[in-house]
Amino acid sequence: MQMIEITVNGNKVKVPKGSNLIQATKQTGCFIPHFCYHKKLSVAANCRMCLVEVEKSPKVLPACSTIVNEGMVVYTDSKKVKEAQNSVIEFLLINHPLDCPVCDQGGECQLQDLSVGYGKTKSRYTEKEKRIVFHKNLGPLISAEEMSRCIHCTRCIRFGQEIAGVMELGMLGRGEKSEISTFLGNYVESELSGNMIDLCPVGALTSKPFRFKARTWELSRRKSISPHDSTGTNLTMQIKDDYVARVVPFENESINECWISDRDRFSYEGLNSSDRLSHPLFKDVNGNWVEISWNDALDKVVSNLLNISNKYGPEEIGAIASEYSTVEEFYLLSKLLSNLGSDNLDFRTRKNDCNLDNVIEGYPWLGMSFEDIEKLDVVLVVGSRLRNDHPLLAHRLRKAAKSGAKVFLINSYRSDEYIDIAGQLTVVPSKIHRVLAKLSVILLKLENKPIPKEFEFLDLDEFEPLLSVIAKEFLVKNKKTAILIGNMAVSLPNSSKLIANAGYFADIVKSDLGFLTYGANCIGGYISGFFPKKKECKSSIFDKPLKSYLILHSDPYLDVDNGAKILENIQKSEFSVSFSSYFSTAKNWANIILPVSPFSETSGTYINSQGMSQSFKGVVKPLGFSRPAWKIFCSLGRLLNFPGFDYTSSDLIKEVSLPPNFKTKLSNRINISFIGIEDNVNLFERIADVPIYRSDAILRASCSLQRTKASELPSLRLNTFTLNKLNLLSGDVVKVSSNYGSVKLTAIHDELVPDNGLYISATFDSTSALGGSFEFLNVEKLEC
Ligand code: SF4
Ligand code: FES
Repeated sequence: MQMIEITVNGNKVKVPKGSNLIQATKQTGCFIPHFCYHKKLSVAANCRMCLVEVEKSPKVLPACSTIVNEGMVVYTDSKKVKEAQNSVIEFLLINHPLDCPVCDQGGECQLQDLSVGYGKTKSRYTEKEKRIVFHKNLGPLISAEEMSRCIHCTRCIRFGQEIAGVMELGMLGRGEKSEISTFLGNYVESELSGNMIDLCPVGALTSKPFRFKARTWELSRRKSISPHDSTGTNLTMQIKDDYVARVVPFENESINECWISDRDRFSYEGLNSSDRLSHPLFKDVNGNWVEISWNDALDKVVSNLLNISNKYGPEEIGAIASEYSTVEEFYLLSKLLSNLGSDNLDFRTRKNDCNLDNVIEGYPWLGMSFEDIEKLDVVLVVGSRLRNDHPLLAHRLRKAAKSGAKVFLINSYRSDEYIDIAGQLTVVPSKIHRVLAKLSVILLKLENKPIPKEFEFLDLDEFEPLLSVIAKEFLVKNKKTAILIGNMAVSLPNSSKLIANAGYFADIVKSDLGFLTYGANCIGGYISGFFPKKKECKSSIFDKPLKSYLILHSDPYLDVDNGAKILENIQKSEFSVSFSSYFSTAKNWANIILPVSPFSETSGTYINSQGMSQSFKGVVKPLGFSRPAWKIFCSLGRLLNFPGFDYTSSDLIKEVSLPPNFKTKLSNRINISFIGIEDNVNLFERIADVPIYRSDAILRASCSLQRTKASELPSLRLNTFTLNKLNLLSGDVVKVSSNYGSVKLTAIHDELVPDNGLYISATFDSTSALGGSFEFLNVEKLEC
């Protein structure tokens, strides 16, 4: 970085060439007050709070938009500057309500702070009336009740345009009549919208769920890690008394920068849900749930497990854990199972292809850092709803596209990712692997190379023009390229073919291949060995009925892809234990429910998709008599007289479960002998997404997130082609049936769904009755 010399308040300093005066003077320890400037946003220079005096300039200049020059002489505290600062504050306060004690932003308001620091004690204005701006309803997450407080800094608008990729807020009117508003009163629906609350320097935009629940000085701050996706977002949990009252970002440039998604910000409501369990529960002979002591509960678990093992063999005991279990929890539960003698365990609850472990030879990961994503030149994302599954990774790709990267998508729903996409191709899930095969064929033809016999007889001619464009982009020399495999792609019944075909293409173009990975700790699940070690392809724990199930942090009906089937199997089992924080996740199937602490009340480690392990501590005490799961597994291990369950802290478990060189096990090496194409016999195919705020039990217990549009009850979405084929009209009420059950849904016209696709969201009680995401469906119109 080239440095130049400037003088700030009489001190000579070296600063980076091209920086503005706010950035440059910061390293001299000098703070220039500002409102509209933010290091991650473009410079608007509209608040004028940052005025400074620059030698040879007749007027004071805004520091945020003044770029340093060699030899520049700057004064940030001269008389002229102080007068300018006084005047700007005075001007801003003309119309701003002077009622800090009753403002929700009081105590953490930039205007309040800068008024005290840089304003006058008295205003010269005597007019009694102030400008009133009518409140707006921006949806269940952001409160815009106090829009009279807005100082028109436009940070919220620029955030939408530049970071979230969608301009949901804009400025209406001019001058004194300016107002921040959505278009035609729409809600703000971006998955990153809550960051506008942090950016707003006054109390105009505040958190709706947190509003008036606590004052900032009543809160203590503790660091944590998000359990909701594979980014491992760093969080600052704000605690009032003994509960989490608010969550804001903890800045970490290499992971989440200074942003968090709404899922990470508002899910804390689920931690305080009335559905939380505080006592071990046992189902008595009459089917009633009764509270029991921990000693009794653990004794019952131990005696029943031994009984099942003796009667039917230990392989009749199975364990399922959610992808947000910690490394330590995965390790101990897996050790418990192996000591019992069972290999029936898995955390990949949406897996549908038993060949997955054969085709991916190592433990799948992103294959690069999040920062590397921004440096890519060509990216192909396969089978992912990026904004839904990985909101902050989508932001990195948005940045890459802004810098000129060509981003292509192949998926089963033409969702708008708010990324400048170079091309998008949408087909039903079973065809994605064929599209990838075709891509390789086109590329091999371009290079006059032989076509593998597995890819003969490919049709898909309608996609040839776009696939040629993609192939040519991947052939350009000296470009950084990557193929990223999304969540939906790894859950398909033919995911091994898809991944092998993607790996084959990556091989021939010498591109990186990466997996976006499910949940917070997919890599931790692999590293801790929480998956079947026998690799033969036969029915998985999610298919075959067992006599006993141990289920951690998961609601099998909603979290396992074929919830209907696993629920039926569990209900037929003799003894099943739920290790859960919520009653509703287990009340319909468990024999015993052991209340376990969610991430906020325990310590543990997550490994994010870029292979970075992050340990965290509990930020509040466990609720009631609930306990960290690692302690429960240690107790069970000791009661069963198994060796190696004497840990007294999660740090000691981490030492044995997470070797320092664990990254050497991460590999996206693909066994390309699995390449090929296969036909789907179903005429119509279900496309089942996991909506952003339904992907785990904590989110599903978060009231505000459940009130958003993204959590709306599912419908059957289909395009004109499929509507006509099924002889339906948009708005018709239909009965959708599978081998597992049927549901009543409203058919909604949606041109974003591909031909023959039936888009029905998963993870709702209603649609889980249909069984797996890729079951054959029958649609029948119901007479009104
Ligand atoms: S609402 Fe807040 S962030 Fe938006 S322009 Fe007004 S003061 Fe700035
Ligand atoms: S911060 Fe420079 S004009 Fe607003």
